[in-house]
Amino acid sequence: MQSQTQSLLQRRYNTMGKYSPLFYEQPIHLARAEGVWMYDQQGNQFLDCYNNVPHVGHCHPAIVDAISRQMSTLNIHTRYLHENIVNYIERLTATFDNGLNAAMLTCSGSEANELALRMARFITGGKGIIVTDAAYHGNTEAVGELGTGFMPEAKLTKRVRSFPIPDTYRGLEGVHDEALKSAYLSHIQAAIEGFEDDGMGLAGMLICPDFANEGLLNIPDDFLKEAAQLVRNAGGLIIFDEVQAGFGRTGKHMWAHQWHDVVPDIVTLGKPMGNGFPLAGLVSNLDNVNAFSQHAMYFNTFGGTPVACAVGNAVLDVLEQENLLSNAVTTGEYVTRGLRALQDKYELIGDVRSLGMFFAVELVHDRITKTPATTIAKKIVNYLRNQGVLISTIGPHDSVLKIRPPMPFQPEHGDRLLHTLEQAFQTLIQDV
Ligand SMILES: Cc1ncc(COP(=O)(O)O)c(C=O)c1O
Repeated sequence: MQSQTQSLLQRRYNTMGKYSPLFYEQPIHLARAEGVWMYDQQGNQFLDCYNNVPHVGHCHPAIVDAISRQMSTLNIHTRYLHENIVNYIERLTATFDNGLNAAMLTCSGSEANELALRMARFITGGKGIIVTDAAYHGNTEAVGELGTGFMPEAKLTKRVRSFPIPDTYRGLEGVHDEALKSAYLSHIQAAIEGFEDDGMGLAGMLICPDFANEGLLNIPDDFLKEAAQLVRNAGGLIIFDEVQAGFGRTGKHMWAHQWHDVVPDIVTLGKPMGNGFPLAGLVSNLDNVNAFSQHAMYFNTFGGTPVACAVGNAVLDVLEQENLLSNAVTTGEYVTRGLRALQDKYELIGDVRSLGMFFAVELVHDRITKTPATTIAKKIVNYLRNQGVLISTIGPHDSVLKIRPPMPFQPEHGDRLLHTLEQAFQTLIQDV
């Protein structure tokens, strides 16, 4: 490690503590970025196959221009009228299905989910929230309770019940393919009844519609639709967390839930929304927004400022002008074919899943037992980093390679990724 980087790392430990998450065994000391490329202090180039926040590309000139023009004109909060704010919300909600026609803006996905919980609990009068057993929805106290994937306190609360991740690859012990869907649904029904039994009442179900943190799962057909029906029959609301999944990431649709023929009550948004500028929020029905905010005044100083909304508008412009959804479909298919070709060659790859420009490569020691290959997954991620390609891992066993590049990613970038992945398999396979 360069001495300058070593010294910065030490200063970081001294001031931020040792446990603030930092990617890679050899942390990257970044200097700048452009498009799908990032550069470190020494000028080394890294292909970004991981970051979804720079959604339309790192430092996109249209985004930089939108920020600087509005910042040099006016920036203030939402308690004044401003064209940008209303324009943005009109334009954003027009991308949703009927009924999802109003928005409340925040600065982070955690705040958006926190607000969604408050709204659902207020509207239903229930407290109980159903999540998956490998969930992450953010870092506030109430949202932390939902974090069954990463946060120990999630196990302590009575307001949250979880169901096993719906995963057609791993399934449930002793349950055959056709019976899987009803087995998962019966866990949701049990959670609903549990809340009834202990007097908590049901507020709703909060899930990411493409199960991104759970490992970008393939789920049984119609599972989301039937799960939503169960929850609604019991008086709960459906909240879809599109903080990772949204803004065209999955290619065919602007919103991941649109693959599933379910119109939720609340959708939460974040990460790609401002291309790195803090912009997040929720979309719901105007009646819900009015009912909630009439009783609980909601104001967020930095949420949805004229600058934030100028950026939000610019992100929507670039998505359209550069046809980034259709690029997610075509490049996504190209990369998926390449990953499947690797799966044919390397036993270590148990499953390849993808949705648009989002890929998951599940590594197993044995295709029959499906023992998660967690250590080798970590080695592969670090090997790729050292070869200038950035990915990460995800899933309940951290054994799924998570590949989720900025949307302008092209087939030639895919070639570089696939080639480097193959090198990693060839080099590291002996260690498996
Ligand atoms: C699905 C999902 N929801 C919510 C969040 C929280 O967003 P933020 O970090 O902006 O608070 C995350 C962050 O990783 C996420 O992955």
